[in-house]
Amino acid sequence: MAKQEDQFKKVVSHAKEYGYVFQSSEIYDGLSAVYDYAQNGVELKKNIREYWWKSMVQMNDNIVGLDAAIFMHPTTWKASGHVDAFNDPLIDNKDSKKRYRADVLIEDYVGKLDAKIEKEVAKAQKRFGDSFDKTQFIATNPRVLGYQEKGAAILKRMGQSLEAENLADVKALIEELEIACPLSGSKNWTDVKQFNLMFGTKLGASADSAMDLYLRPETAQGIFVNFLNVQKTGRMKIPFGIAQTGKAFRNEIVARQFIFRMREFEQMEMQFFVRPGTQKEWYEQWKETRLKWHLSLGLGADNYRFHDHDKLAHYADAAADIEFKFPFGFKELEGIHSRTDFDLKAHETHSGKKIQYFDPELGESYVPYVVETSVGLDRLFLAVFSKALVEEALENGTTRTVLKLPAVLAPTKAAIFPLVKKDGLPEVAKKIVEELKFDFNVLYDEKDAVGKRYRRQDAAGTPFCITVDHQTLTDETVTIRHRDTMEQQRLPIASLRNLIHDEVSLAKWLEKTK
Ligand code: GAP
Repeated sequence: MAKQEDQFKKVVSHAKEYGYVFQSSEIYDGLSAVYDYAQNGVELKKNIREYWWKSMVQMNDNIVGLDAAIFMHPTTWKASGHVDAFNDPLIDNKDSKKRYRADVLIEDYVGKLDAKIEKEVAKAQKRFGDSFDKTQFIATNPRVLGYQEKGAAILKRMGQSLEAENLADVKALIEELEIACPLSGSKNWTDVKQFNLMFGTKLGASADSAMDLYLRPETAQGIFVNFLNVQKTGRMKIPFGIAQTGKAFRNEIVARQFIFRMREFEQMEMQFFVRPGTQKEWYEQWKETRLKWHLSLGLGADNYRFHDHDKLAHYADAAADIEFKFPFGFKELEGIHSRTDFDLKAHETHSGKKIQYFDPELGESYVPYVVETSVGLDRLFLAVFSKALVEEALENGTTRTVLKLPAVLAPTKAAIFPLVKKDGLPEVAKKIVEELKFDFNVLYDEKDAVGKRYRRQDAAGTPFCITVDHQTLTDETVTIRHRDTMEQQRLPIASLRNLIHDEVSLAKWLEKTK
């Protein structure tokens, strides 16, 4: 646990030190659970978004994009159920006066059981060495099975109690598990209460005429209310999807774990409209497609798992999360929901407008069913960033910090250095920058010794460093150093563009997801 916490602290401080993520309004002591993406962070985030967008919209001829406004008519949120049901169960500790999400306290307890399982696995791995069969161990070891059963039973009971709005039982569960306030250690809890997560605001100039609005808590509703507009103008035939990326806002109470749980965050969502009765097949298909997409990032298959929901959201008939092993354990990265016809039907009822699709093959009209894929861009950023950050022991006994971001996502693709700041080398290096910048984000650096510049770029995640030296002046070649292997090659300047392109090309990555 302590190791995990240390790793997480390193992630947060590295993100700040290398210009990825800053606390919002830091000069005023910050705003809790709100973050700004800095010069490198904004590029990484943009590259992740672009990879998602191209995989969804460009690679699928039956998925189109949308950019709906953040402000929506307030009836939207009545129809969607968010006004009545978008709540978190909260509990206060009477001694520390700290407020917690009751479900998160319970999930954290189960997380500790998961950590115990990992400890057992690590111990056995050490004992049995190469002959260790992890899958068999997990399936048969009595202690591991005990922890698993206990965790599953706790989550099931919590899911059922929340589903039935039985908040007294959620409190009873916290008491039975003897969960203590992480701050005070006290088990003196209030009752569990529901709290709506939407932020309210006003539209209009005067207090009397102003209209109450909400900042959208999910981007999906912008897609639902535009279903007919897009279907008709795009002449879309079911099955088809509408994809959108954009900001969403939630008044999260347990706002911790850095950019994992924010009050203002970005979602990348796709609603896939299907014939009623076919939703189960599409749900399974999208689960598989989305996991494959995540695996294409190369962060390691062991870091992903599915979690099927016991407690279903008010709109879903099936739901699963793709969980990722963050530095603080397995947590939700993406949600895949079979949303039935709940949303479109609700908008029909509340708007009084017919929202139906005429299916030419069936010769009938119906309200389509929807399968949704919804991933948090900030969580994806954290997943990529935290797995990329490694401390590497080198052969000479020193260590280096390196951010092994997938080259296609790295903010800067190459850094160009003159070996020394004289003899015409800076001019040649700057000329290379001028040529490459039409294709890639590149930078020029002449400060400090070359070894130190390499380390700086390793830590910033730059996949290539190109050094101009005296030989360059005679034969127009440079050295190119690869971040992950630290190998150096001597190459003609004229071949740099193609070499970098081969490594950072989005097209090649997209092929992997096919
Ligand atoms: N439209 C469905 C929906 O919004 P959700 O499970 O509440 O479903 C989808 O959210 C994804 O949005 C989550 O899997 C997560 O990645 C991201 N997300 C949700 N709340 C977040 C928060 N407070 N901060 C960062 N990301 C969040």
